[in-house]
Amino acid sequence: MSWIPVMEETALADGAMAPAYPLGVNVVVARVGGTVYAVSGTCAHMACPLFMGSLDGHTLTCPCHDWRFDVRSGRFLDAPEIGLAVYRVKTEEGRLFVELD
Ligand code: FES
Repeated sequence: MSWIPVMEETALADGAMAPAYPLGVNVVVARVGGTVYAVSGTCAHMACPLFMGSLDGHTLTCPCHDWRFDVRSGRFLDAPEIGLAVYRVKTEEGRLFVELD
């Protein structure tokens, strides 16, 4: 496990999401209510880039076919057995870090 810096903490406003590529891994980070979450950046359906979708509360909607995911758990809201990889996030010295295996 290692913590990889992905961006300055101030670069991610509340209610916003952004792509990040720690060590080449495609991740989307989202801040909701002051908490930052990180999930796989590619949709579990047909791999569309999730950062181009929309974020409404904890619900991230894919831009391609509107699959909806909870950024806290990565779960697809219509079929919870399907989901996105979820990564732990921490803030240190003004930067956001994502934990990778
Ligand atoms: S690729 Fe995301 S809903 Fe189809």
